[in-house]
Amino acid sequence: MTAAESLVAQLSQAFQGELLPNEPMARHTTFRIGGPADLYAQPADRASLLLVYRCAWELGVPALILGAGSNVLVSDRGFRGVVIATEKALKATSFEGDVAFAEAGVNLASFVRACAKRGLAGIEGMCGIPGTVGGAVVMNAGANGCEVASCLLHADLLTPDLREVRLTRDELDLRYRDSALKGLGWVVLSATFRLTPASPDELMERVHQMETRRRATQPVGERNAGCVFKNPPGASAGRLLDEAGAKGLRVGDAQISTKHANFIVNRGNASAADVKHLMERARAIVEEKYGILLEPELLMVGEWE
Ligand code: EPU
Repeated sequence: MTAAESLVAQLSQAFQGELLPNEPMARHTTFRIGGPADLYAQPADRASLLLVYRCAWELGVPALILGAGSNVLVSDRGFRGVVIATEKALKATSFEGDVAFAEAGVNLASFVRACAKRGLAGIEGMCGIPGTVGGAVVMNAGANGCEVASCLLHADLLTPDLREVRLTRDELDLRYRDSALKGLGWVVLSATFRLTPASPDELMERVHQMETRRRATQPVGERNAGCVFKNPPGASAGRLLDEAGAKGLRVGDAQISTKHANFIVNRGNASAADVKHLMERARAIVEEKYGILLEPELLMVGEWE
């Protein structure tokens, strides 16, 4: 019996949701790239999410928590272990005064809009970021001069030994597209933000303007995983790549966007290896021209050659 089969056997009738063995991760990433996960679990409620996470821990099966799959490159060989999706299980939001609460599986853009409609300002800059609230906390997502760290109060987390802990913004050590949570495998259960009262109409107008700008400057609607590289201090990775002539470069069906050079788009059947190879070429071009080594922003997961 494989580890994934033992896990399925161990999960009692109490588990509600979907369990898909050998599930291609290409179906669950915005890149539409990625080999199979031994098991893909889509728990329907919070109790089922905790159950599958606990069973995986007890059996020593590696677990990968996945939000919207919008910032990951899953290898062609896929992931050995269980991928646990949060989008169906953790989807509650609530508001009290200027404090806004969202469970980890909530779509970030929808949450930002819900806050704006209630006249709560502070996170509207993140309106166009594809992803979930949980992923945004782990990555300290940001756009338009606004990031999770600017208004997060605390996050509730589940540790691998199944303790529920609350960490404040400072304890989470949120840095530029980075946090203490990266690589830890803890589950973000929810996040609580302190926002500032503002006019809903003005906020919605700003959201509209930023979305229009984003559609004009980023390959929205094409298969991609957001910005590929972090911006080096004081510079824009997109501009460096553009000026180094990287736009349009291709490896297989993976191509550097002709709209914004810090995006790679999947033109059809790109493999993870194509994307990785293209990232290496892009890095080499910038290093040669500027002596700057770009650091990947997207998370590379799974088994690599
Ligand atoms: N630029 C070019 N050529 C390009 C891309 C950009 O010349 O191909 C120039 C732009 O004209 C602009 C400057 O570079 O003058 C900066 O570009 P942009 O405003 O697009 O911002 P960015 O630094 O490239 C950052 C974030 C984005 C976020 C935007 C908008 C990073 C790595 N990128 O991009 O976040 O959407 O600002 O706030 O931090 C992401 O994290 O996945 C992401 C896409």
